[in-house]
Amino acid sequence: MKMQQRDYRSSSFLLPLCLIIILPAPFLSLPAQAAGPYTDSAHGNASYGVKRSVAPLGNYSQGNCAHCHEQHASIDGAEPAPYSGDNSASPFALFADNFNPSATFTPYQQNDNFCFYCHTNVDYLQSSGITNYNRDYAATFGGYTTDSPLGIFEAFNQHSYHNLSDIQDFSQTNFSSFFTATSNPCTACHNPHIARRNKENKKDPSYTAISKPSDHANLWGNDASERMLAATSNKYMAPYFYEATNTYEPDATLTHDGSLTPDYNAFCTDCHNTTNTISSTTLGRNLIKISWYTEGGDSTTAGDKHGKNSATGSSERIMPYGTDNGWVLSCLDCHEPHGSPSSFLIRREVNGSYTTAAVHTKATSPTATSNIKLLCAKCHNSDWEYVHHLSPDATFNQFKCGSCHGQNGTAGFIIPCEDCHSHGKYVTDIDDPSLSRRTF
Ligand code: HEC
Ligand code: HEC
Ligand code: HEC
Ligand code: HEC
Ligand code: HEC
Ligand code: HEC
Ligand code: HEC
Ligand code: HEC
Repeated sequence: MKMQQRDYRSSSFLLPLCLIIILPAPFLSLPAQAAGPYTDSAHGNASYGVKRSVAPLGNYSQGNCAHCHEQHASIDGAEPAPYSGDNSASPFALFADNFNPSATFTPYQQNDNFCFYCHTNVDYLQSSGITNYNRDYAATFGGYTTDSPLGIFEAFNQHSYHNLSDIQDFSQTNFSSFFTATSNPCTACHNPHIARRNKENKKDPSYTAISKPSDHANLWGNDASERMLAATSNKYMAPYFYEATNTYEPDATLTHDGSLTPDYNAFCTDCHNTTNTISSTTLGRNLIKISWYTEGGDSTTAGDKHGKNSATGSSERIMPYGTDNGWVLSCLDCHEPHGSPSSFLIRREVNGSYTTAAVHTKATSPTATSNIKLLCAKCHNSDWEYVHHLSPDATFNQFKCGSCHGQNGTAGFIIPCEDCHSHGKYVTDIDDPSLSRRTF
């Protein structure tokens, strides 16, 4: 949402840009910033904002720009090493290179990304580290703290992750109004000058940490119209909070209508929509396009039923989804934004309980074991025979078992769920090809 106050792109804020680039010391000795979006931000905060511990920075108050921007590669030898080792300044006059584009796969090293110097649980440059860590979504908003990564660096170095060089390439092409060849992929989703501390104010998304890539100068989620409640016309049901009976995300609250949660669907579909071709180096292919808003039930042009399109059958859901149809889920009900021990950024905990660390390990090898049904079971009746053969609208006749299940016996019996279920999929009736079911 647009700020009432002038945002950091206003003329008074742009002035320091010239200072950074042309002038030496004055920029660094800027007085504490006047009230405004920067001082309201997590980085600009005077008591918990940026503060590097190295001695030469001792004169700069907590929250000062100089803890990130330096006009030379380093202040009096305060490391990390200068840009490309040639003593020239890093782009944007940052204290280190913004991003190393040749880091195409994990494990990422700390010096691959400027942000990793502070957003990590080891060897951090932030004085005393990040307060209470940065845990993953399942921990911070789902309540499942066990085994959470304790920093953003750690979150990206898991089995699946949002590939940062792919994000950089994609954003350069698609968000060129602000995203340059030397921009940091994290800034596709965050504006470091305005991002706030949602984790300490979980019930209050005016403290949101994110900005939509198509609206980089503003926060996303801080306005009531940018939350799940408004975006779904009251058809969002917040999942259960971890083992806290009948309380809900994002903070074991009794409110479950989405009024406390940013509209993550609009955020993620800024990139993952029906038109963008997104190539994934990690998966070695283009990604499935996500259709989250198109209604039309079981028609082959309709979107996902977990999105705005409504379920068409009898309800095989468990609580809190009850017997109703028409729910719209949030991407972050199932996915992490940064990384996960499972494939496809699937959360460790979903709808109040643990999913196991390897719910779905089919990312790179099509023959690897998939446990995707453990994810489905978090919200659906997990008697898969009932769901597919016996429920009021079951589609499969139990006849000639082997024609679908392969050889009898355990090895061939269960049919891989992802043959029929993932974003965009539908199944056509064998006997009557005019009938189809949207199956995700
Ligand atoms: C000099 C250290 C430092 C660097 C470099 C840094 N951050 Fe931060 N960041 C912090 C601190 C300190 C906080 C506030 C931490 C807290 O919650 O106490 C913070 C908070 C944040 C938040 C708000 C959420 C939260 O509470 O943690 C976001 C989002 C964020 N940083 C993103 C970034 C991104 C993106 C980059 C790189 C472009 C970056 N940071 C680089 C130190 C840093
Ligand atoms: C594809 C979008 C996307 C990218 C890329 C991304 N983030 Fe985030 N990030 C999010 C979303 C969404 C949230 C809000 C949910 C949350 O707080 O867990 C978030 C939350 C955060 C937080 C707050 C975590 C907390 O404690 O709640 C920090 C800090 C952060 N990101 C830093 C980074 C850094 C550093 C990078 C790059 C290495 C990065 N992000 C890349 C989407 C992204
Ligand atoms: C947490 C670290 C951090 C802090 C603190 C910070 N910046 Fe930045 N700033 C960045 C990063 C990273 C970029 C590069 C953005 C990108 O990757 O596209 C940047 C870019 C800029 C730019 C270039 C225009 C733009 O937005 O891309 C200006 C101007 C700027 N910063 C000014 C400031 C001023 C003035 C302050 C203090 C009021 C400040 N910054 C505080 C990290 C920071
Ligand atoms: C009900 C849980 C659920 C929700 C909600 C959900 N996803 Fe997914 N998503 C999955 C699962 C499961 C997979 C892996 C499916 C597979 O095996 O291909 C996946 C895969 C993906 C992929 C990778 C697709 C590919 O090419 O393999 C993307 C991108 C994605 N999701 C984005 C989103 C976005 C964006 C949203 C919100 C608009 C969203 N998801 C909502 C469960 C979910
Ligand atoms: C700035 C654009 C952008 C935004 C915003 C964005 N993504 Fe992505 N996403 C990408 C790109 C590029 C890839 C391909 C790189 C990769 O596979 O990691 C990707 C890949 C994915 C994958 C597949 C990752 C894998 O390796 O299995 C999932 C799942 C996904 N995104 C979910 C989300 C969710 C959920 C959100 C919202 C929190 C989101 N994305 C927001 C650009 C984006
Ligand atoms: C976070 C909870 C959640 C998870 C996890 C989840 N679902 Fe769902 N699913 C729902 C809800 C809620 C609906 C009803 C949507 C509506 O009302 O439009 C639904 C609807 C469906 C439908 C449409 C049924 C019909 O009658 O039209 C299918 C098919 C489906 N889910 C399959 C899956 C599969 C397969 C998985 C595992 C990969 C899965 N779901 C994971 C919550 C979930
Ligand atoms: C037209 C295809 C088809 C035929 C024929 C068929 N099934 Fe199924 N069955 C399915 C599908 C799809 C599922 C859901 C995926 C799974 O669980 O393997 C399923 C699931 C099951 C399950 C639950 C397995 C689990 O995951 O726990 C049982 C048991 C089962 N079928 C028994 C039978 C028997 C016995 C026959 C023959 C009398 C039969 N099926 C014939 C399609 C078929
Ligand atoms: C051959 C295709 C096929 C396979 C394989 C398959 N399913 Fe399904 N599934 C369907 C169809 C068609 C429906 C819709 C029929 C219905 O809702 O009764 C469905 C419905 C569902 C639903 C939605 C229940 C509801 O109405 O809320 C879930 C959950 C589900 N399947 C899970 C699974 C799981 C888990 C597996 C793997 C063990 C699996 N399916 C394998 C075709 C398949």
